[in-house]
Amino acid sequence: MFCFKVVAVFAACSSVAIANPVKERANTWNYDNQKVRGVNLGGWFVLEPWITPSLFEQWANGGGVVDEYTYTAALGKQNAQSRLTQHWSTFITEGDFKEIASFGLNHVRIPVGYWALNPNPADPYVQGQLPFLDNAIRWARNAGLRVMLDLHGAPGSQNGFDNSGKYGAINWQSGDNVANTLTAIQNLVNRYRNDQDVVTAIELLNEPANWGNDMGLVKKFYYDGWGNVRTTSSNTAVVIHDAFLDPQSWNGFMGYGSGVNDVILDTHIYQIFSQGEVAMKPCQHVQTACASAGRIQNTDKWTIVGEWTGAQTDCARWLNGLGKGARYDGTFPQGSSGYYGSCQNKYTGTVDGMLQVDKTNLAYYVEAQLDAYESHSGWVFWTWKTETAPEWHFQNLTRAGLIPQPLTSRRFPSQCATSACLIPGN
Ligand SMILES: *[C@@H]1O[C@H](CO)[C@@H](O)[C@H](O)[C@H]1NC(C)=O
Repeated sequence: MFCFKVVAVFAACSSVAIANPVKERANTWNYDNQKVRGVNLGGWFVLEPWITPSLFEQWANGGGVVDEYTYTAALGKQNAQSRLTQHWSTFITEGDFKEIASFGLNHVRIPVGYWALNPNPADPYVQGQLPFLDNAIRWARNAGLRVMLDLHGAPGSQNGFDNSGKYGAINWQSGDNVANTLTAIQNLVNRYRNDQDVVTAIELLNEPANWGNDMGLVKKFYYDGWGNVRTTSSNTAVVIHDAFLDPQSWNGFMGYGSGVNDVILDTHIYQIFSQGEVAMKPCQHVQTACASAGRIQNTDKWTIVGEWTGAQTDCARWLNGLGKGARYDGTFPQGSSGYYGSCQNKYTGTVDGMLQVDKTNLAYYVEAQLDAYESHSGWVFWTWKTETAPEWHFQNLTRAGLIPQPLTSRRFPSQCATSACLIPGN
């Protein structure tokens, strides 16, 4: 790893990096040797029904509202504006940034939709997020945190997930959508070009699907977006998501020798979105987490696990979409035949109210993931807080002692150094 990197950096220096050697080193976060330890601020500027079910409760039994697009369409601009302004001003406050820093975290990844940055008048979405995002950057600066801005929703939807803003079809590469996405990135960079001490990284696009998108065009977009960011904000690292492909398969693309620099590959690791995964026992989850370290280590560029969770089930209410059940207890509508356990106290509830066995399993699983995901550039947990999904609530899990403090301490050391199961009773 070390030798490879030295050689590769050397190659980059002889081509492009030399044009900007000082600026390349000016990033106030050193992604080479400081581990990223972060949380996502999910559900703040891009709604997800399962993170804030209270906003969606009136459509719990129907009405076709399943994402921010249909939410704003159903409410109309004026009503949506007032409810969302209330949400933006209360869901995350400066107190959260202080507590995030107090837990030893150093990054927050903040999802934002194109509709905040480059709105299309034909959309139902409302604006007004950016003054709150400005606050977030000021609060991060006050707390000594770094910010990774993340374009989570692109026009046409890059993945069809509710968390892209619009559930359903993948139409991102149709019409002017890609060009409008690049404009959204440009507007984001322009706004925060003077905040490079805090905004140390910008993610061009969250989770573009490798199905329903032409990967050649995804890669072209990554080059164009890299140019937009680095031309305007020369110290800012550029984050590219792996499109759900093996991180190692990106070796050679935008690597140290490729003529671009300061690129971070982002991979997301969940073990809950298939029958096979929810069927796994707690120790299999641990072993699977440990095994992922190989894929993260053997990459030729900085690599983070930009989303992961304490959840070993898909039990959290509406996690699979508003109105949909879980694979874990056999209530997921499509192709669901299994039953692996009850979602009791995991469907909705609090961290304090979780069953003791679930708390124990979660604590082992989180530590194994920390071990594995620190094997390269670091990690960002999904998510800082939720209204009712306990397994996903970094703040309360940490307060409850289920995530280690300090983050480098271990109650269950060396889980990834053995194939034995260390969880009692398993
Ligand atoms: C998180 O903790 C707060 C404060 O104790 C509590 O009000 C809230 O219900 C908790 N939420 C979860 C999901 O644990």
